[in-house]
Parts: sequence; structure tokens; C-alpha cells
Amino acid sequence: MENRCEVGPSGKLSLYTDLLGDPICRVRNSPAYLMLVAELVVVGSGPDKERREIVGAIRGCIKTVTCGTKLSRSANNKPLPIFTKLAYISGLRVSPSHRRMGIGLKLVRQIEEWFGENGAEYSYMATESDNHASVNLFTQKCGYSKFRTPSILVHPVFAHRLRPDPRLTILTLSPADAETLYRRRFSSTEFFPRDIHAVLRNRLSLGTFLALPRGATWRGAADFLASPPESWAVLSSWNCQDVYKLEVRGASSVRRALVKTTRALDRAFPWLRLPSVPQVFRPFGFHFLYGLGGEGPNAVKMIRALCGLAHNLAKEGGCGVVATEVADSEPLRLGIPHWESLSCAEDLWCIKRLGEDYSDGSVGDWTKSPPGMSIFVDPREF
Ligand SMILES: CC(C)(COP(=O)(O)OP(=O)(O)OC[C@H]1O[C@@H](n2cnc3c(N)ncnc32)[C@H](O)[C@@H]1OP(=O)(O)O)[C@@H](O)C(=O)NCCC(=O)NCCS
Repeated sequence: MENRCEVGPSGKLSLYTDLLGDPICRVRNSPAYLMLVAELVVVGSGPDKERREIVGAIRGCIKTVTCGTKLSRSANNKPLPIFTKLAYISGLRVSPSHRRMGIGLKLVRQIEEWFGENGAEYSYMATESDNHASVNLFTQKCGYSKFRTPSILVHPVFAHRLRPDPRLTILTLSPADAETLYRRRFSSTEFFPRDIHAVLRNRLSLGTFLALPRGATWRGAADFLASPPESWAVLSSWNCQDVYKLEVRGASSVRRALVKTTRALDRAFPWLRLPSVPQVFRPFGFHFLYGLGGEGPNAVKMIRALCGLAHNLAKEGGCGVVATEVADSEPLRLGIPHWESLSCAEDLWCIKRLGEDYSDGSVGDWTKSPPGMSIFVDPREF
């Protein structure tokens, strides 16, 4: 069933996922998760009187994230995060032959019951803004409203390595140092996961990388936070390719041949540094960059260098692309190399308030709050 379902709008070119034999692979790294399937019972005659067929599926997970901030009276009006229990709907699929029969709606309602029973205060989902079936289902039938529109930025992985910037020093942080840095600098960012330690220590986490001016040294997170250099940047990488693979189907043979040629040329003449198109018409894996941040006049340049390092890591891992997702007003997005043709300018996040009782009254209704400059996209949900 899963293999027959496209992700997003169906058209000439459609995206498909290969879950590598694990139907819950995209939720299993979250603190609480559930998968439901819709089963059709076909009653016939003969030895197989009753046949069961899966015609739909939905997955959901729940975790605690930042939904706003309040000012600390004891610490110089420093913004402190307000956390909420948030549910996320992912992998809703209905078999193409059984659509428009109310199955999708039933699956959403049922998983929302589980969210409510487990104390989730909000539920959200992400879809391409031109996926009318999904947008209508959630906004017109299930009470969700359009909330945020971050961009998914995708860069191909070339057959050649990208050169490091000699003006910078890049360090790999330990999970403990990365956790301290993220908690102190990013915990007031919307959607920041309170269990960031579990993300950074997960086997899929490939590391956290910090860019500093050339020659700068690292004497621990506390020292760095007390007196950071004028400019710095950080990002972490996550190995999605061990979780699932993507594939673009529906391309003409001419387009396939062109793509193959660019890669063959890049492999044959790596010193020419040709920008080849990745092989997206066969299942391909990718790394996801998350926790992008930085400060200072050179932060954009430093993020670019970190993306180059991530590209080389993805090349060693045999990935087709490197992807990240950032808020539409993210100041660092200028430093994130990507190809428009592979990216999604508007990934639509829709949200719904599930309960009337808030864990902290001071945030008000999160669904009505204006967006911040940045957003923390959890790699477990990408
Ligand atoms: C999106 C999807 C799950 C909908 O499943 P479904 O079982 O066909 O949906 P339902 O029959 O429950 O439809 C409920 C409502 O959704 C909306 N809807 C569903 N399909 C639609 C379509 N093709 N065009 C416009 N609106 C649509 C309608 O408002 C519909 O109510 P109505 O039939 O009374 O008009 C299904 O189209 C699908 O699997 N798509 C591919 C995978 C995907 O894009 N998943 C969503 C990712 S978040």
C-alpha cells in the first residue's frame, strides 16, 4: 500500500518513499508514537471467505517542545522557554483505489483521540501547500489552521568534494557540549525539543559542528558561552538514509538520460567540479541538517562552510542530496547552498489546539501567535 502511494500532490513527477521494511521508522525515534492502519474486510465465497486488505495508514508521535517564551525576573529579563506537549501527524496515506471514501478523515480522528488521551495540547502536520487533498482534509474537515511556512532547502551531492574555507576552524562538538550550547542558545526557538539530549545522542545523529574564526580554540561549552568569538555558527547532521529512501517517479527517459550524463561527467572529471544532478529516479538517501544557528557578521559565511563539510560527509555516506528546513525569515538561509529545482519553497505546517487547558497560561493560544525569525526542525520528524 505504502509503495503505491505518492507523497504530496500527484502529477507527472511524484515523490515516493521506501521505508526499508520498517513501517514506523519515521516516528520510532520520538518519545511516544503510534501507527494505525485502515483495514478493508472483503467477504467472498470459496475457501478464502474473508480477505483483509490494508487501504490506509497514519503515524503520529508526541513530544514536548517550546511554544513561546516568558521573561525571567531573576535573570535580567532573559527569555525563558514555555513548553507544551505537541503531537505530530506523519505518513498519512490512503491507497489510490480507496480515496474520497472518508478513510483519511477517520484515520486522523482516531489518532487525535490517542493524542488527547496522552495529554497532547496541540497537533500539527506538514504538507506541500499544493497538496490540495491533504490541505483540504486538515483545514476544512479537521479544524487545523495554516500556521508556518518554512522552506525545505535541498542541495545535490556531487561526485567531487567541496573545498574547506581556510579562514575558518571547524570543530566537532561532543553530544554533551552540543546539548549545553543548544539549550543555552536555542531553547527559546519555536519547536525546540525539550529532549534535545535524546536527539544528539541518537545513533542517527552524525555530529554537531561548530565554525569559528581561524585559530580560535575550544575550552568547553561554558567558556565558549561566557565569551564567544565575534562570529560563530553551528549545525548538526542526521542520517536519514538509514531510515528511509526517496525516489522520484514519472520522469521521461530523456530527462533520466540527461541526469545520468551529468553524473558520469562529474565522476570522470572531478577536477572540473561540474555541478551534477543527483540520481533521484532511483531510491536515494540523504542527510538532514538541523540546529542551524550562529551569531556575528560572518555567521552566514560560516554556515556556508559548515554546509560544505556536511556535503562531504554525505558524499562519503553515498547520499543523493543534503536537505534542511528553515523558517522563511531565517537570517542564515542566505548561507545555505541549495537548488531551487530540488527544494520546496513553502512547506505548509498546519496546527490545531486539542485541549482547553494549557500547561502555562502565559503563552495564550499558540495557534494564533506570530512566527519567530527561526524555527527548530526536529530531524526525527523530517
Ligand atoms: C490526502 C489523503 C490521505 C486523503 O485521503 P482520503 O481517504 O481520500 O480522504 P477522505 O476521503 O477522508 O477526504 C476527506 C476530505 O478531504 C478533502 N479531500 C480529500 N481528497 C481530496 C482531493 N483529491 N481534492 C480536494 N479535496 C480532497 C475533502 O475535503 C474531503 O471531504 P469530501 O470528500 O467530503 O469533499 C490521500 O489523498 C492520500 O493518501 N494522498 C497521498 C499521500 C499524501 O499526500 N498524504 C498527506 C501527507 S500529509
